[in-house]
Amino acid sequence: MGKSESEIIAALGRPEDDEPAAGFREPIALFNVESEGEFQLISTIAENLRIKARAALRVNPDVDPVTHSYTTTGKAETKFGVDIARARDFFKSYDGHPWLKLCGVHVHLGSPVSSPQPYVEAIGKVLSLIDALEAVGHRIEVINIGGGFGADYTSGQALPAQAYADAIVPLLADRLERKWTATGRRTQVVLEPGRTIAANAGVLLTRVQYVKTSGSKKFLICDAGMHTLVRPALYQAFHFIWPTSVAPQHVPAERTAKPGVPGLEACDVVGPICETGDFLARGRDLPPVAPGDLLCVFGAGAYGMSMASRYNSHPLPAEVLIDGTRAKIVRARETYADLVAHELNAQDIAGS
Ligand SMILES: Cc1ncc(COP(=O)(O)O)c(C=O)c1O
Repeated sequence: MGKSESEIIAALGRPEDDEPAAGFREPIALFNVESEGEFQLISTIAENLRIKARAALRVNPDVDPVTHSYTTTGKAETKFGVDIARARDFFKSYDGHPWLKLCGVHVHLGSPVSSPQPYVEAIGKVLSLIDALEAVGHRIEVINIGGGFGADYTSGQALPAQAYADAIVPLLADRLERKWTATGRRTQVVLEPGRTIAANAGVLLTRVQYVKTSGSKKFLICDAGMHTLVRPALYQAFHFIWPTSVAPQHVPAERTAKPGVPGLEACDVVGPICETGDFLARGRDLPPVAPGDLLCVFGAGAYGMSMASRYNSHPLPAEVLIDGTRAKIVRARETYADLVAHELNAQDIAGS
């Protein structure tokens, strides 16, 4: 979405001006093009650089993925893709471009999508479009059905991959079998799974700084918050949270909002930011917690660190990779000096 000129140049395999050591690479396999303007810009840059590249048109199928409105991308009123009704005209205008070969159709409905049904509906629309395009001579080499497959934020919440596959594969199977007579290439089917792989590959550890009661509420004030994991504040998303060390009777059998363990108390797990929306969980049943305890926030491997910010002058946290029994720091904890490292002195600018 909204690719910048420098991103396009990098995707075409050219190093940034300030990074010549990066050297020349192959262009990316496929640009997913979101608008006429984007096709024009990518193709102009490709032509100027004399680099041939390939593109798929991202269509907006007007299918409801039945998820949070902020992560719904397949409905007509969202900013994504080109209205599927306009796709034929798009191919008529741009297919055959000598520097940017328009050879695919892309769709991404939103995420997380907890049922295969929206995929079935959208793929049906995409296949009808492809049939219509092929009937007038366009050759579609790639069908990209996007990502958005569910992840287990709550135990048993997400469907297994097999359930999506059972619904989706039969729709696409005959396209995979076909061979183009001219090139001998089969239609390629591309998927873009993200959270279903990454969400439960990562957890966020946060230390409880203070415990306080205000009115009828108990607050656990932590050193992580909306700046570290924005999903609860932005999407009211559920993340299971539990202390890293608990008495045996407080070991939960399942990661749910009501884990059914005795002796719990409802708490708001909040961060240090000056926003009431700065919370990781509200009214969450938790075992006894004291300042200094560590809490584990599950399912933080997707849209966690990648959406973290330095808001309220909070340096970004460290990232640790766990490989079996080995742990390795893969991103150093930032310092205050890192926060201000790129700031320039206004007087120097005025004098330059
Ligand atoms: C075009 C596109 N494809 C795939 C994904 C991955 O979605 P998810 O992580 O839910 O699988 C995204 C997420 O924003 C996306 O924008």
